[in-house]
Amino acid sequence: MRKVWPLRLKKWLANMCGIVGYTGKDEALPFLIDGLMTLEYRGYDSAGVALLGEKGKIEQIKCKGRVAALAELCKKFDTTPTTGIAHTRWATHGEPSDTNAHPHADCFGTLSVVHNGIIENYQELRAELEAAGHNFKSTTDTEVIAHLVEENLKREAKGDLLLALQLATSRMVGSWAIAVIKVDAPHELYVARSGSPLVLATTDTGAYAASDVTALAGITSHVINLEDGQLAHLSYDATRAKGEQARIEVFESDGALVKKPDTFDIDWDASAATMGGYPDFMAKEIAEQPEAIRRLLKDRLTKEGIRLDELNISPKEIAAIDRIYIVACGTSYHVGLIARTLIETWAKIPVVVEQASEFNYEEVLVTQHTLCVIITQSGETADTLASARKMHAAGAKVLAITNVIGSSAAREADAVVYVQAGPEVSVASTKAYTAQMVASVLLALFLAEKTGMMGPREVENKFEELQRVPDLIEEVLTRAWQDEAATPAFTDAQSALFLGRSFGATTAAEGALKLKEISYLHAEAYPAGEMKHGPIALIDNGFPVVVVCPDDHVRYKTISNIEEVKARGATVITLATDNDQKIAQLSDYLLLVPPAPEYYTPIIGVVHLQMLARFVALARGCDIDKPRNLAKSVTVE
Ligand code: AGP
Ligand code: GLU
Repeated sequence: MRKVWPLRLKKWLANMCGIVGYTGKDEALPFLIDGLMTLEYRGYDSAGVALLGEKGKIEQIKCKGRVAALAELCKKFDTTPTTGIAHTRWATHGEPSDTNAHPHADCFGTLSVVHNGIIENYQELRAELEAAGHNFKSTTDTEVIAHLVEENLKREAKGDLLLALQLATSRMVGSWAIAVIKVDAPHELYVARSGSPLVLATTDTGAYAASDVTALAGITSHVINLEDGQLAHLSYDATRAKGEQARIEVFESDGALVKKPDTFDIDWDASAATMGGYPDFMAKEIAEQPEAIRRLLKDRLTKEGIRLDELNISPKEIAAIDRIYIVACGTSYHVGLIARTLIETWAKIPVVVEQASEFNYEEVLVTQHTLCVIITQSGETADTLASARKMHAAGAKVLAITNVIGSSAAREADAVVYVQAGPEVSVASTKAYTAQMVASVLLALFLAEKTGMMGPREVENKFEELQRVPDLIEEVLTRAWQDEAATPAFTDAQSALFLGRSFGATTAAEGALKLKEISYLHAEAYPAGEMKHGPIALIDNGFPVVVVCPDDHVRYKTISNIEEVKARGATVITLATDNDQKIAQLSDYLLLVPPAPEYYTPIIGVVHLQMLARFVALARGCDIDKPRNLAKSVTVE
């Protein structure tokens, strides 16, 4: 059943952080720490673990800062418990501190809770619980869960943890993925979900819970997706028959057993989520782009034209499309801008591109004949998911272009194109960006072909040109030295301007976003022709201006803009096509790309700007993969 917009909006707007849990035959700590490391992209304000030993005691170890600091702390403890829960936090309520780090306990340390989400009515619940004598230690919203469960255990639930959790969630407003352990249940774990993601799995040796599948890659390929409102009981009992020792039972919010939980398979290679000899994930992910694109393009052209079966849309439906709405955030929004030009130029269908956070609160012209496309690497961005629900409520069909298999976006959309870039760990998106652009090219070609706006011969030509893109990116990768050489232009700068026209304007926007998010240097992107209407006032001696000016239909116009900033003393770093003498004369630094059709240069050219941002960030001593204040999945509105 379609969900109703917007009454349930708040419920869907979960927020970040990562949780993991384990109960089984093996020591829990190694999985918990590894799992947190994998999920750390979701937040890194603090980290913590609660371990449950046979002796009826819960050991909570937690600290402000990264998982690595927690791992160090854990070395001091000589414990080998086989049940535990852990958390990496992106603080919403209460400052990042040791005390506010999860897990949180009840008054007597008999149970321990980790939580991803926001309990919106926590103040009211806290007041009620304090009045009943509960003693709070932190300033988080999460702690109310521990005390609420404790209170229920004492009263209606009479020691039944599943019931206590069920009753607690029925009082809570907001979003949550929760995992709970209790001293008298040394081989059990209880979880609940509403709004925040949670996946579960069993192996012969244990039962697992995690915020997302990346933490389970390498452990199992078969996963249960806990659905909104559901709870689950994970247990391990060595006396049960072989193959059944680890068990997961899923329940609806009213306690009814779910006979067939929602399951799916992961097909990612666990090694894809390791650094594999690169100095950071961003470097690795930049280098993986040619391979990711080749994977996506495999078997996409058949005698019948572009193969995009995932779209699951009939020729009649295509003919009836009144407009396309593309909605996304950040880097994925930039993909949408490129997709718009391609679809409008090739398929002649009007396209509107909106940032999800804006789209959600505006009057929008979506009808049942509108094709809605959400673009999201993680598939968990709250704003984008809310947009999809809004479009569904208006009766439109929603296509998701995403990288994460089984993500919320993939599950909620009517059709999914997986970009197959493999796990993207670095917070700054690189390979997902280029893969999403390639998926958009396929979509544009498919629509152009099906609407009859492009003949089969031309589609084939464009596809063949597209197949050359990975080789051209490989060539750009060998020119990383050009980006490194340009780094001094930014070392003492306070700000930088990125200019471009047409496709180049979007590449400039993406380049500026990359630079600001990982190097903390203010960067502003402007359509080159608009610069004279304001930003030109910024230009002064040595002011770095990155100009995206490949050999395209606006090259001459953009060259005039290079002249304008040069005349005012700017240091000009130009992204240009090989052998462009004119631009070489005007520029202080050149980032060169091999010749390519202009509609594919955004995919090739941006690789330079990714490398440039990384070199500048390195020179400024920044953390490449985990820039301050950011998180990989922005699951808060
Ligand atoms: C990318 O470098 C950024 N970290 C960010 O803008 C990101 O693209 C945005 O949050 C959207 O994420 P999504 O693609 O996972 O929805
Ligand atoms: N709201 C909780 C807190 O601030 C959980 C945040 C999270 O999901 O990381 O501690």
